[in-house]
Amino acid sequence: MTTDKNIPVHVSIIMDGNGRWARERGQERVMGHIAGVKSVRACAEESVRQGVKYLSLFAFSEENWGRPQAEVDALMKLMMKSLSDEVGTLMDNGVRFVVLGNRKRLSETLDSAITQLEKMTEGNQAMTLIVFLSYSGKWDILQAARRMAEEIAADPGKVVSPEDFDSYLVTAGIPDPDLIIRTSGEQRISNYLLWQGAYSEFLFTDVLWPDFHEEQYRAALDEYAKRDRRYGKVK
Ligand code: FPP
Repeated sequence: MTTDKNIPVHVSIIMDGNGRWARERGQERVMGHIAGVKSVRACAEESVRQGVKYLSLFAFSEENWGRPQAEVDALMKLMMKSLSDEVGTLMDNGVRFVVLGNRKRLSETLDSAITQLEKMTEGNQAMTLIVFLSYSGKWDILQAARRMAEEIAADPGKVVSPEDFDSYLVTAGIPDPDLIIRTSGEQRISNYLLWQGAYSEFLFTDVLWPDFHEEQYRAALDEYAKRDRRYGKVK
């Protein structure tokens, strides 16, 4: 593990380009998602080695439910398979596993398999791996606003700070991402961590997600280490 480097506490990745990776090889899109699981494992293991405490991954957005049903089904099946395949690796590496998003839209089978893995890994402390599933930033802000409004109705004089609002988001208790990486050359936020990413550093790379492994991840951490974060102030 590198110790003299400015290591981000929380790295978040918009994993993009699986479909294009598969198409370039004349394969079905799902082959790109399957290959993408290897990149998930590579980045998770490298995060533990580098001392990154939170790695979060945008795996499936609220909007992704609108993809062809066959692809949605394949992605959910892959998620289910990955849960059982990766239990050992998560436990061996001391990784806590958490899924955040609109879990009501997941099948009961998937949701309970996730809950089981979350419980099994809840004592692990080396790193937290967060998978955003059926998540969108606007959905998160709305559900937080609704819950907060209910409490304010009971106490109309209550003053609310941004930190108070944080506690209603699904990411409550998780530090905001220091670095958000998006693969595949697209340069947009796509309704991801809209509130939490207010001061994140962004890194866009042309590398497609299935080709993003330890080496590319380390290069991203090196780039982050050179950034000068001022949070709107003067240094
Ligand atoms: C974006 O590529 C990728 C996704 C919507 C799915 C990401 C899912 C995985 C890597 C698999 C499982 C994840 C975990 C956490 C086990 P795209 O399909 O939008 O690619 P394209 O833009 O080239 O079409």
